[in-house]
Amino acid sequence: MLQILKMGDRNDRVPMMTRRTRRTTICATPAGANSKQANGSAGEKTSSQPSHSNRKVKEEKGVHEPVTTPRKERSKTSERFSCHVLQESLLSSASGYSNYRGILNWCVVMLVLCNARLFLENLIKYGILVDPIQVVSLFLKDPYNWPASCLVIVSNVFIMAALYTERRLSVGTISETTGTFLYLVNLTTLLFFPSATVLTLTSITPVGGAFALCVYTILFMKLYSYKDVNMWCREIRHTKARTLTRSHSCPSVAQSNGSAVHAHVSYPGNLTHRDIYYFVFAPTLCYELNFPRSPRIRKSFLLRRLFEMLFFIQLQIGLVQQWMVPTIQNSMKPFQDMDFSRMIERMLKLAVPNHLIWLIFFYWFFHSSMNFVAELMRFGDREFYQDWWNSETVTYFWSNWNIPVHKWCLRHFYKPLMGRGVNKWVAQTAIFLVSAFFHEYLVSVPLKMFRLWAFMGMMSQIPLAWFVGRFLRGNYGNAAVWISLIIGQPIAVLMYVHDFYVLHYVSQS
Ligand SMILES: CC(C)(COP(=O)(O)OP(=O)(O)OC[C@H]1O[C@@H](n2cnc3c(N)ncnc32)[C@H](O)[C@@H]1OP(=O)(O)O)[C@@H](O)C(=O)NCCC(=O)NCCS
Repeated sequence: MLQILKMGDRNDRVPMMTRRTRRTTICATPAGANSKQANGSAGEKTSSQPSHSNRKVKEEKGVHEPVTTPRKERSKTSERFSCHVLQESLLSSASGYSNYRGILNWCVVMLVLCNARLFLENLIKYGILVDPIQVVSLFLKDPYNWPASCLVIVSNVFIMAALYTERRLSVGTISETTGTFLYLVNLTTLLFFPSATVLTLTSITPVGGAFALCVYTILFMKLYSYKDVNMWCREIRHTKARTLTRSHSCPSVAQSNGSAVHAHVSYPGNLTHRDIYYFVFAPTLCYELNFPRSPRIRKSFLLRRLFEMLFFIQLQIGLVQQWMVPTIQNSMKPFQDMDFSRMIERMLKLAVPNHLIWLIFFYWFFHSSMNFVAELMRFGDREFYQDWWNSETVTYFWSNWNIPVHKWCLRHFYKPLMGRGVNKWVAQTAIFLVSAFFHEYLVSVPLKMFRLWAFMGMMSQIPLAWFVGRFLRGNYGNAAVWISLIIGQPIAVLMYVHDFYVLHYVSQS
């Protein structure tokens, strides 16, 4: 037995020596030294051992090694057999090791495995719930009655009203005051007419109503921008400037797609049907007389975006039907019983599919769909989002996840307010107030139920932004932003669904 152990020991020693020799050879070259440091090992480990190449160089240069004394020989021998060096463990921060790629892969594998289990559990429990026909019923109650689509068609009236008001203003047949009044009527009606229609019509579904209101809200922001830019043009014309070399806007992106040479439009040459409809369909909320244009439509890019759009919309619908709806249905009882521990458990359960669907929605809307429309219209500015996922503050998130809205807020609200001497904090609060109003408008009106959860959710961003900015930095700030996104949304969703359920089902029964 002892012999076997000794043999084993001897066998072990040989490869170790071989390994050491190989390491020494690697470290003799500068590249080798670099590769060792990259792995986080101690670089000086082998520096005391002259390598073959070093020795060769010395011999070539005629440098002779001093005659080795027995003591030096002994220390050399002990160095040859030593297998320990002064070094830190890899996971100690002092080791300087930073290559955690394998851990990241492990996270991805664990994520896939956990979700595969959840997927299977869901299928076993509920069977297949995905039903594309049901999606149509979310938009339409009656196949012969399309109120949401009719509302969208009627929105053309407001576009025409804006164009004809601008034409009158440009030739001076109406005064600026009259123009402002007409715009006030037009834009106010633009907000109240669809909401009144959605609230009074019984044939419109909540999803159909939300879609129509989204279209009207976008149109409101676009026509507001149209009004402002044309007014700036008139101001410039009055100061005898002939062309619009404007930079009242947010910094426009460099024409990275290589803009084609287009006829330069100047005021009032822009007041045409073609120009206003280009702006209405373009993926931006900020009007400009001369948008940066891409030189051509890239067909393969367009097809890829189209494929993504179709695939991700199906995926979102499938995940909502198969994963979110059963979880929400199972959450109603704990909410009615006010069972807090079960409520939190349900909310955390809903957070996973909700967040996944939100991420897919982000990609589907801000990357696939907006790029598809932009490519089709040869609209050059493709900055629809920035790296919000690295947000270390809440304000960074709000300024970077939805660039079209952020640009509009800056150009037509924030900068004009700041220009009038309004305090920065007041201006930011005012923007969040307006944003909270629109969030509530887009949820409460289609649901025909005013609960202010969306409004409060948006307004709570102000104290949250202060707290994160004041107390959290770096990765902690980033984690706080992620937590607020993952937890905040399902709370709002559950609140609305619970209230809708109580209002329409419990009270009726
Ligand atoms: C409120 C909000 C506009 C603040 O944005 P911000 O980038 O943090 O604001 P900042 O204070 O850094 O200033 C931004 C710009 O204003 C300019 N500015 C600052 N003070 C100014 C002043 N007194 N006069 C003129 N401009 C001024 C800055 O120079 C800067 O200009 P730049 O972008 O051209 O460099 C942003 O958080 C926001 O868009 N919030 C709402 C978003 C939202 O509701 N989205 C809904 C999505 S669903």
